[in-house]
Amino acid sequence: MHIPLVDLQRQYQVIKKDIDAAIKKIIENAHFIMGEEVRQFEKEFSDLHNAKFGIGTSSGTSALFLSLKALGIGGGDEVILPANTFFATAEAVSQVGAKPIFVDIEKESYNIDPKQVEQKITPRTKAIIAVHLYGRPADMDAIQAIAKRHLLYLIEDAAQAHGAEYKSKKVGTLSDAACFSFFPGKNLGAYGDAGMVLTNNEDIARTISLLRNHGRIEKYEHLIEGYNERMDALQAAILSVKLKHLNQWTEARQNEAYLYNDLLKNIDKISPPLCHDHFKSVFHLYVIRTRYREKLSKYLAQKGIATGVHYPIPLHLQPAYRHLGYKKGDMPVTEEYSETILSLPLFPELTKKEVVFIVETIQEAFENDFK
Ligand SMILES: Cc1ncc(COP(=O)(O)O)c(C=O)c1O
Repeated sequence: MHIPLVDLQRQYQVIKKDIDAAIKKIIENAHFIMGEEVRQFEKEFSDLHNAKFGIGTSSGTSALFLSLKALGIGGGDEVILPANTFFATAEAVSQVGAKPIFVDIEKESYNIDPKQVEQKITPRTKAIIAVHLYGRPADMDAIQAIAKRHLLYLIEDAAQAHGAEYKSKKVGTLSDAACFSFFPGKNLGAYGDAGMVLTNNEDIARTISLLRNHGRIEKYEHLIEGYNERMDALQAAILSVKLKHLNQWTEARQNEAYLYNDLLKNIDKISPPLCHDHFKSVFHLYVIRTRYREKLSKYLAQKGIATGVHYPIPLHLQPAYRHLGYKKGDMPVTEEYSETILSLPLFPELTKKEVVFIVETIQEAFENDFK
């Protein structure tokens, strides 16, 4: 048995006919950057999240970068974000010249701890980035209240949370700008890099549209200086095909996660993720915690089961952020979790039989190997 963490080949086999036709059409039309396919996908994706505007970008990282730029955030400003997230969340802040300020996470949700956000606010703070990590929405009521109280911008990093729901509302409209990634392994993944910003604010939408395309209003007329961070027509066409399957894929992910939770509940050396009706996760990743992580992941690898760690080095301890002066012990929950979290295989096409096999192998590992 070989079970990868994510299997994009299995997915392609299911949708091959439609994907191949969409790619062929773009190549025959020979219109590769922006255009009708991008406009159509922007509409479909923003409609799905009940957002007024969707602006396709070249990646999730550029979606974050352009959002920060559009909000006027730059040199001398501070932006608050969780210490447990992918590097790009902080990188976008540094890219605009601002300073990332890290906050520890909540034990239950693995997301930014609102109770600790307020202590980090200074006169230089301009924004908070709430990351919906692993597909589970952050505590947006609490974070929105803090942003409102201190007149801060709020950005959602929804790179891992396509279609996730916070108190029955889709993520993507719970902030000034919500940033999505369509990196191939994401819940909705392109066949290359792509991203999108969703917003209900017309001014922000317009500024991001300008910034992503050289500040252009006509072919050779530029209102402002911008960047080349556009979405490809090929990626948009592929994403439109895949979007039709997203709800069904999300349901499959959730069912697999609930099955894992049910089967793992009697293994006391493992903490499965906690589910909550108010924070409806779309399970981009299925992340457990165990003190036996290294031994367990090696055992599973020997049995053909891939695992991952998201993420092994907290952002405040990354070599790239040494100059910010953080030290070990500053973010106790993030640090403990970085040593104990383990992502198990999870993708829509994973079968029930495979989930059962993975859990049985985990059981076997604890029974036989590490007494
Ligand atoms: C939480 C988070 N933020 C930002 C990004 C950046 O997205 P991209 O890889 O599309 O630039 C990713 C994905 O890689 C992510 O997981």
